[in-house]
Amino acid sequence: MNSDPSTEVGAGLVTEVEVAPTLGWPHAVHVDERIGWPNVSRETIDWPQRVTTPSMPSAPQAAQPDPRLRPPGPRRAHFDDDEFAPPPALEPGTDVSRETGEFRFPSPAEPRILVVANQKGGVGKTTTVVNLAAALALGGLSVLVVDLDPQGNAGTALGIDHAAGTPGTYEVLLSNAAMADHVVESPEASNLKVLPATIDLAGAEIALVSVVARENRLSRALTAYLSDHPTDYVFLDCPPSLGLLTLNALVAASEILIPIQCEYYALEGVSQLMRTINLVKGELNDRLRLTTVLLTMYDARTRLAAQVADEVRAHFPAETLPTVIPRSVRISEAPSYGQTVLTYHPDSAGSVSYLAAASEIAARGAEEKP
Ligand SMILES: Nc1ncnc2c1ncn2[C@@H]1O[C@H](COP(=O)(O)OP(=O)(O)OP(=O)(O)O)[C@@H](O)[C@H]1O
Ligand SMILES: [Mg+2]
Repeated sequence: MNSDPSTEVGAGLVTEVEVAPTLGWPHAVHVDERIGWPNVSRETIDWPQRVTTPSMPSAPQAAQPDPRLRPPGPRRAHFDDDEFAPPPALEPGTDVSRETGEFRFPSPAEPRILVVANQKGGVGKTTTVVNLAAALALGGLSVLVVDLDPQGNAGTALGIDHAAGTPGTYEVLLSNAAMADHVVESPEASNLKVLPATIDLAGAEIALVSVVARENRLSRALTAYLSDHPTDYVFLDCPPSLGLLTLNALVAASEILIPIQCEYYALEGVSQLMRTINLVKGELNDRLRLTTVLLTMYDARTRLAAQVADEVRAHFPAETLPTVIPRSVRISEAPSYGQTVLTYHPDSAGSVSYLAAASEIAARGAEEKP
């Protein structure tokens, strides 16, 4: 390397500066050892060890968490405490086998037909239908889910094919097809049956307008099905509207279950739904009763969720189930595996809470036995 040592002399110290011509930058500095500074080039810089002087006490060490106490795998957000669900609280009346831990819900005296309705979108209607249906089926009861939503989401979560062209609700409503011909068994449980909906059902709202007795089509088909297919629970999953599909469900059902999302605006729309229910009750279906309100997507971290829950309980004190469905990642993940949360993650808080809600519904149904 070309170097251009220059020497400065002053106060008894000698400093030599080497300049690298290509860089135009001091390349190495050699300082007289008497100044006590390391005599190093940039490339080989070798700083002395850091020394803590007595005048700078080191900061107190924070207590380190024991790594063995943390669950393995990626750290989850604090609120995702799905893995630490309490054991299921099953209502009295549920038979639990001591040997196998299997449980059996009490069956109702007559088939209970629950329409799950709320014209507000995305409040958890379909999620509630599929998980309650699966819970009751796992509890030994025979269950039918009728999908009345062209989105066909109930079919997805229950592992049922609902590609366009698959026969189902459309054929029953518009072609007078027998329900039994198109009901299929869900892979979730052999006693869980589904009448699938496809996107073709989107045209049914308009096609039904000109059909005779258009609001009774489902009711007739269902009555015929139930006469030779013993069933304990029927769930009717409605689209987020109060059109002819929802009207058919309200006419066919004996009870209404309203899922209410624990969010702002939760009760808006419920009064409109109540007006429709009263209209149907007076004109088309006398036996229709609002029996069940289920609070969904409850986020225990927010004060808003607690306020909404209190307000709903004040409006519907007898109807609101004690169990609240928490907002849970497992619940929202399950449909992408074609499963309900009960089989996808049986120990999760979401699964446990749907099981508890199903057990409350079954207990209420059994109370009404003559
Ligand atoms: N408890 C819950 N925790 C977390 N996500 C949830 C919960 N319940 C429902 N979801 C998610 O919220 C979304 C809407 O739920 P869902 O489809 O059940 O509502 P919906 O009322 O049937 O909607 P639509 O009105 O469109 O038919 C879905 O993505 C679902 O996975
Ligand atoms: Mg839905």
